[in-house]
Amino acid sequence: MEKGNRANFGSKMGILLATAGSAVGLGNIWRFPYQAGTNGGGAFLLVYVLCVLLVCLPVMVAEFMIGRHSQANTGSAYKLVAPRRHWGFVGKLGVLAGTLILCYYGVVAGWTLDYLLQALVGTFGRMAAGSGGNGQVFSDYFNNFVSNPWRPIVCMALFMLCSHFILVRGVQKGIERFSNILMPMLFVLLLLLAGCALTLPGCAEGLTFLFKPDFGKINSGVVLAAMAQAFFSLSLAMGCLCTYASYFKSDANLMKTACNVGIIDTLVAILAGVVIFPTIFTVGIHPGQGPSLVFVALPNVFQQAMGGMPVLAYLCSVMFYALLVVATLTSVISLHEVGTAYLAETRHLSRNKAAGIITAFCIALGVLCSLSMGPLKNLTLAGMNIFDLFDFVTAKLMLPIGGMLTAVFVGWVLSKRIIWSELTNRGTKRMPFFIPFFFLLKYVAPISIMCIFLNELGLFSWL
Ligand code: PHE
Repeated sequence: MEKGNRANFGSKMGILLATAGSAVGLGNIWRFPYQAGTNGGGAFLLVYVLCVLLVCLPVMVAEFMIGRHSQANTGSAYKLVAPRRHWGFVGKLGVLAGTLILCYYGVVAGWTLDYLLQALVGTFGRMAAGSGGNGQVFSDYFNNFVSNPWRPIVCMALFMLCSHFILVRGVQKGIERFSNILMPMLFVLLLLLAGCALTLPGCAEGLTFLFKPDFGKINSGVVLAAMAQAFFSLSLAMGCLCTYASYFKSDANLMKTACNVGIIDTLVAILAGVVIFPTIFTVGIHPGQGPSLVFVALPNVFQQAMGGMPVLAYLCSVMFYALLVVATLTSVISLHEVGTAYLAETRHLSRNKAAGIITAFCIALGVLCSLSMGPLKNLTLAGMNIFDLFDFVTAKLMLPIGGMLTAVFVGWVLSKRIIWSELTNRGTKRMPFFIPFFFLLKYVAPISIMCIFLNELGLFSWL
């Protein structure tokens, strides 16, 4: 194995913050609230937590094991840990999925940057004042912005360059150092916002919606939506966790790290719900709005809910979009690293060159994704524009296939000696939950992921 002097994270805290930084992103703050909103609030939350515990954490530990044992990028890792088996393609699939997802994730990342700038210059306050509370101006703003031929592209490119310059500084001085600064910033912003949201008149109604499970709402659709959300939110099957784990030191406890990342990611999603639901209930917006919630409803919502105190409305929207930018940046960095590490190690390129190639590739495809909301909107395949096509192929096809194959690989193919050695840090730690963990990984995870997959393809429409 290519051990030697490979880069690694300097501290356990660095490992946790960088990995949690990958997990916490748009998925928690943008996707989780609208998924919960459209799938029954508290009932969704309950199923979501079960999915994280029973399926996602075992798969996360599996990715960690492959990464740390191989000490290599995801594209080489699967082959290195089982050289005589033909499973190397799963790692390559992960690298491809991670890089392709970055192309359209980068576009939405660019939107968060524009919204932060607009919040900073007070655009939303002026829009609210000029419209007399009519939310139409906000959806017009969003539609004009995303369909503009150059503004979202400039924002996307800026965002990608930012991630590029952090990456080229290296694993410890780039990824780890920035995660150590950005993640605490994210927690502080989130807590401040939650504090503001809890003083609003819609607080009780919002919290009831988020936390009170209505068991009547739980059906197969809710379970599958929760599972897909948990996979996306925990950055599984995109090569990120495997790549990061290859930088873990030999004394990092994989099981404990996975549990901590799961807890942080879920808490951030819940806290984002605590910010969003009380705020939208205060102005009487329905939580089942869908994807436009964060970009269309929220800019208006802050202005309306805190209309009596314009300074607070201004501060809250600046903090909210700063939170979104920070969370997105740490996830973009992790996606960017997957392809960078792969190119650098397999093509023997410098980190600078490898990162440059990925940056250029993702900006080029990102331009197409972005234009597909405007000038290229008529370019469709199977009824999907380019942006939706990227989302479909990566998040809906490659992600469940990669996750399932990883669970099968570690559960059925990988040598038990490697699994045992990784879980116990070469016999130096106790591993109390081995049997339930292995059972979940071998049977529960692949079967449940298979279900999400068939559902995404519409094969479960009869349920
Ligand atoms: N987990 C990130 C989020 O919640 C998204 C992501 C997916 C990041 C896959 C990396 C890999 O937004």
